[in-house]
Order: sequence, then C-alpha cells, then structure tokens
Amino acid sequence: MDQANSVVELRQYAQHWKDHHKSIAFIPTMGNLHAGHLSLIEKGQSLCDRTICSIFVNPMQFGANEDFNHYPRTLDQDIKHLEAIGCDLVYLPTASELYPQGLEHITQIAVTDLTDNYEGEHRPGHFTGVATIVLKLFNIVKPDVSVFGKKDFQQYRVIQKMVDDLNLDVEIIGSETTRETSGLATSSRNQYLSEQQKIQATLIYQTLQDSAQQIQQGERDYKKLEQQAITSLDRAGFNTDYFCVCSSDTLQPATADDRKLVILVTAGLGNTRLLDNIEVDLW
Ligand code: PAF
Repeated sequence: MDQANSVVELRQYAQHWKDHHKSIAFIPTMGNLHAGHLSLIEKGQSLCDRTICSIFVNPMQFGANEDFNHYPRTLDQDIKHLEAIGCDLVYLPTASELYPQGLEHITQIAVTDLTDNYEGEHRPGHFTGVATIVLKLFNIVKPDVSVFGKKDFQQYRVIQKMVDDLNLDVEIIGSETTRETSGLATSSRNQYLSEQQKIQATLIYQTLQDSAQQIQQGERDYKKLEQQAITSLDRAGFNTDYFCVCSSDTLQPATADDRKLVILVTAGLGNTRLLDNIEVDLW
C-alpha cells in the first residue's frame, strides 16, 4: 500500500491514476478502523479501480466539551488492516497542512436544513467541521466516488446535500451499517462498553426493528411510537437523547404521507453515547 503525507504527494498519486484512466474511490476516516470502516473500503473497491483511505482526526468537528485529545489513535494497527484488505493508498494529512492558519480563520462549509436537529443540535458546529474537512479532502483527492457509512445517517445525508448544493463532481455512496451478530452496530465507541453493557446495547437495534415493524404494519402515530421506544430504552438503563421517525429525505419528523423513512436514535449507556438508525420504505 502506498502512503501519502502531503497534499502534493497525494495529488501526484491521484493524477497518475487518472492519467491511466483508473477510477478512484475515496473513504475518509478518523482512523481506529473496525469492520465497519473496512466494509466501506471494500465497497469502494467493488466500484472503482483504485481506493484511497484518509486517516485524520479532524479537530474542527470536535466541540469544546468533546475530547479531541483522547480520540483513539491506532495508526499501526489501522495500516495493517488496510494492507490486509488491499487498499491502494493511505493518506495521512497533518493538521498544520490542512489548517495552516489554525481553525479560527478557515472558510466554513455550513450545510443548511439537515443540520438543525439530532447530532447537529447536540453537537453545535460538528457538521460544519465535517463538511469543511470533507470538501477539502474531496478537492485534494478529486475522487469519482466516496463512500460513507449509513450508521452516521445524518452525516451521510449532510455530505450528499453538500455535494448536490455545491455541484461537486463526486458520487456519494451510502453503505449499509455493519453489525455484530447480536445486532449491535459496529462502532469505535463499542470498545468502551463492558460485556454487560454490550448485551444491554442490543436493545437499541431491537427497539428500532420493533418500531419499523409496527410502521410496516400500518402504525402512523409516530409520536406514540417514539414515546414508547424512549420509555422502554430509558427503563432499561439508557439515557435516550432522541428517537425520531423522520423523512429520510429532509430528516424532518415524518408525516403520515412520507414513504421513505428513517428512525434515528442516540442513547447514552454509562459514559458511552450510542448511535443507530433503521430505514423504513413504505412503497
Ligand atoms: O465519519 C467520520 O469518521 C468523520 O466524520 C469524517 C467523515 C472522516 C470526517 O472527518
């Protein structure tokens, strides 16, 4: 696997591949790679001739009360994983190259509408940090395709909207969430759960599946469904931030007429905040 540490180096690799008519899939990550990330790389490999993964813990998307310094950094292990699955290039940018003037003065990409609720509300400025770094990375890599996990459904939709609104020439692919056999969505945060909490955490996906089934069977009182789900999660020891049946297009609370839905949930378990969702198509 090749490695690029600077913008110039990365551009040289990408240009060389473009000159040889090779399509490029790009998967941006913050490292600490697990099966979920590797499935994104594999998706990229299935769609394009060359796959580039970036590893960069982006300071701009962390709030003042979020611990950027303690974000898990496992570079050696990440590189082994990427080599094992045959990723072509890892890009390891430095903060000083991407934010040479620091974070205060950089142009910001504020994606509208989709960022008001859920993670946008709980983590002010988060999506501006995500959109800004992703646009910068797109401009450096110039990929044909970029793959985002649907586990972070709101992030996936925010990136898709940025690409649409700004006429970026890249196709955004949403990749299905990988799960442990218990149903628990694969996440870097799972490593903070005790064995007991891992068992408890499976209730999140069970609750999503149960609500999705009720909707498929005709339930349209979404407020009631949400309240039931929050009560059952909180009774089981979670601290539910939100459990919301939304239109998967606008991410606004769903109306009875919406046909493409997503149920978004975030719930705290001990000190860990777990995120998950399920899509429900009513065609
Ligand atoms: O999902 C992530 O890991 C990050 O938000 C991303 C997309 C790599 C941007 O820093």
